[in-house]
Amino acid sequence: MSSNLLEALGRIEHEGKDAIERASAAEELEKARVEWVGRKGRLTTILRELGGLSPEDRRLVGAEANRVKEVLNAILEGREAALLGNQGGGEQIDLTLPGRARWRGVVHPVTRVVDEICEIFQGLGFARVAGPEVETVEYNFTRLNTPLDHPAADMHDTFYLADGVVLRTHTSPVQARVMEQFKPPVRVIVPGTVYRRDPFDASHAPAFEQLEGLAVDEGITFVDLKATIAEFARRFFGPETRTRFRPSFFPFTEPSAEVDVSCQICNGAGCGACKRTGWMEIMGAGMVDPAVFEAAGYDPERYTGFAFGMGPARIAMQRYRIRDIRMLYENDVRFLEQFEP
Ligand code: DAH
Repeated sequence: MSSNLLEALGRIEHEGKDAIERASAAEELEKARVEWVGRKGRLTTILRELGGLSPEDRRLVGAEANRVKEVLNAILEGREAALLGNQGGGEQIDLTLPGRARWRGVVHPVTRVVDEICEIFQGLGFARVAGPEVETVEYNFTRLNTPLDHPAADMHDTFYLADGVVLRTHTSPVQARVMEQFKPPVRVIVPGTVYRRDPFDASHAPAFEQLEGLAVDEGITFVDLKATIAEFARRFFGPETRTRFRPSFFPFTEPSAEVDVSCQICNGAGCGACKRTGWMEIMGAGMVDPAVFEAAGYDPERYTGFAFGMGPARIAMQRYRIRDIRMLYENDVRFLEQFEP
């Protein structure tokens, strides 16, 4: 009797092992588990017959049955792990989870502002051009009527590369380069990076973007400057935007002005963003100084013109309410991904 049962256990061990190892999907494995070690499985049928055995045989067959059960369970476990492993790292996959969005780059906020401003001026008849970032002292200062003892030319304010060569401190030298190449009428908008020995703090960066504008023709007056800037401000900041010119000084313009627009946040009422003035400064501007025309080989008796220079980083900071200019240069994706593509 016991030898029959031991034989049967031997077959169960052998065939069960086979069935479990052949299972190539979770359902097949579950079927094998039910058939061989389940509560109504083949192994259990043997255990039911233990009652009819002598105590000695019962111990013998019982022990063997337990051994076979452990063997089969161990193989089941191993097979289960292997099957799940095929589905990905032993983790269950939850098909109801939302998919992962594809990572998309965005246009940098300063680049975006530069492009928008250039497009507006292109719509007003200006051509977008560029000039060198490594510039000569001649173009950066001398041709712009700026004497070399002017504070802007100081070693402390300017990166000198070699004798007579600097990293340009502004985009204004492109005015001189354009006038050298083209006869009037001239209308250009010039974006580009400029460099100054400024500390890198919340409101300064040693390298930053500028946008230069220049218009030269016969009969251009300050009215053209005001009308052009006012129209630009309405198109860029919104149709209700007001513009204000305050007297100022630049060596390359006469007269010169600082240009303010009504604060975008309080609409001129005065708030924290505009320091309670109701205005935000956006650029320097003026009528091109006759000395600049002379240095460029233009006849100052025949031609007049206006020029302006603005900082798109400042404008981007106002528009997007960015408090620290360094955020624009850190390349932190958590910051950049907040902008629309
Ligand atoms: N170049 C000046 C600067 O860097 C900005 C500027 C002011 C440019 C007046 C101009 C202008 O063309 O007319 O601060």
